[in-house]
Amino acid sequence: MSFVESIIRKREGEALTREEIHDFVVGAGRETLPPEQLAAMLMAICCRGMNDHETRLLTEQMVRSGEEWEIAAARPTAVDKHSTGGVGDTVSLVLAPLLAACGVPVAMMAGRGLGHSQGTLDKLEAVPGFRCDWNRDEALDLMDSCGVAFMAQSERIAPADRTLYALRDITGTVPSLPLIVSSIMSKKLALGVGTLVLDVKWGRGAFRPTLALARELASALRSVARGMGVTTEAFLTDMNQPLGPALGTACEVRAARDVLDAGGGADLRAVSVRLAQEAMVLRGWSAEQARDELESSLTSGRALAAWDRLVEAHGGEPDPERWPVPAQTHEIVAIESGWVMEVAADTLGWVAAEIGAGRRSREEGLDHGAGILVHARIGDRLEPGQPLATVLMGDREIDVNAIEERVRGSFQIGSDRVSPPQLILGTVDEIAEEGLGTRD
Ligand code: URA
Repeated sequence: MSFVESIIRKREGEALTREEIHDFVVGAGRETLPPEQLAAMLMAICCRGMNDHETRLLTEQMVRSGEEWEIAAARPTAVDKHSTGGVGDTVSLVLAPLLAACGVPVAMMAGRGLGHSQGTLDKLEAVPGFRCDWNRDEALDLMDSCGVAFMAQSERIAPADRTLYALRDITGTVPSLPLIVSSIMSKKLALGVGTLVLDVKWGRGAFRPTLALARELASALRSVARGMGVTTEAFLTDMNQPLGPALGTACEVRAARDVLDAGGGADLRAVSVRLAQEAMVLRGWSAEQARDELESSLTSGRALAAWDRLVEAHGGEPDPERWPVPAQTHEIVAIESGWVMEVAADTLGWVAAEIGAGRRSREEGLDHGAGILVHARIGDRLEPGQPLATVLMGDREIDVNAIEERVRGSFQIGSDRVSPPQLILGTVDEIAEEGLGTRD
């Protein structure tokens, strides 16, 4: 069958066969199919969808398009964690050393920032000397020496995804569920860690803004991972306001270190501990044992020591006094009294990216001193003069008044008392039981 016939079949809503999906992925990975045909197939999939079996086949073929590291074969107890991305989401940097301190090895592939959310790889590179460009053997050595291997996403892992993702970006086919699931999971499965915890964000700073959409994604990701033999659980957590108190690169690493030093943002700490606990439960711990061990590693200093060890093992500078700092800071305070009703995570994320924590073009470097510290959270009571946020300015030229206006506009202050949003909604199954997953 020619590839155009496969496009027509999908256009008419038929399910693709294993061979057709194979041809599509090989054609993308080796660039042997013309981009017009790949784009037409992407649009047909986007409009007609794929059933679970097709999505699994697509993911499987995408994994096979590049290197497969099979970490589980060498380190069966290792765990991985993936977040669908958010603002001030520094959970990976807290969770990895926390788990290492409890004797659970971690292997994670870190990516660059996308749009309004900063990437883990960008954050780690804010630490002078920190490297993530390890090969498989080096990654295994790192896990043995410090309990954690952070690796940069490379073009050798799931290359078909690189071609397809770039085409999706310019053909309006990014939001398709089977395309998102296969894209995310192909990279996870290529690394091949045996245990995976998924943190699917919902809310205005998330990639899937409604709870129903986020739940659908969480369920599909978990189903594909489990179907391919990975012990997996998926949580839904809030991304209506920034998770941690810092948005940027160096400032987010500091925020993570503060949690490991038994302080820091309460919400960042809560999500990190809950996901780490789940990883341990998936590895056979009881929930109470896991919780006690995690709490004790935070209060005893073991988690912070694990962080220092992992930074050094990755070539980085552990002394935070030597990390990048802003050239100047600008504090923004409340001018009226009231209750914080909204903190627009997406707008704050875009502003942080614009002032230096993100890239305006592919080639542009980041300003690791830049970012935003968020002081007020939904449900807080504020009086005039109390701090809303501090803008950390790097070297990029910015219009401070315009930035202040956008940051101030991100905080909606009202006269009605509001409760903070529920931070951890639970696993996909818990949410289904409570009927929450159907909320728009
Ligand atoms: N992240 C990915 O890697 N792929 C997607 O399609 C969406 C988010």
